[in-house]
Amino acid sequence: MADDPQELLTAAGAVMRHAHVPYSGFSVGAALRGQGGAIHAGANVENASYSQTQCAEASAIGVMVAAGETRITAIAIVAEKLEHCPPCGGCRQRLSEFAAADTPVYLGRPGSEPLRTTLGELLPLAFGSGALSS
Ligand code: THU
Repeated sequence: MADDPQELLTAAGAVMRHAHVPYSGFSVGAALRGQGGAIHAGANVENASYSQTQCAEASAIGVMVAAGETRITAIAIVAEKLEHCPPCGGCRQRLSEFAAADTPVYLGRPGSEPLRTTLGELLPLAFGSGALSS
């Protein structure tokens, strides 16, 4: 499947509208292209016990794994209040479990040119499964 940032950004923007953000008011949506071509999307889910909040990327990973996929070929992240919302450190690590260093990451909004980076640029020297078998 071709890497289509607009399709991914549209999916991320749509799921972002379902974010549960009563505490921060900061809605985020993430969309992951699975190896089979399907899009898996999720939004952030906050909790009154603040530290139990789940980021949009983690939600999308859960959707992808539940669909039976474990490889990501492209990532898009959309936030309502920030034009280019970078994934937090924890989510960079979560995404690296399923994506390669050259996997494109699009930060932006549907209908505009996104900022394009890669997971390797966002998380250099990533700790991965290879380290455990060394
Ligand atoms: N958030 C995400 O969903 N993804 C990130 O990578 C950064 C932060 C959410 C968590 C929380 O609900 C809100 O943004 C403010 O931190």
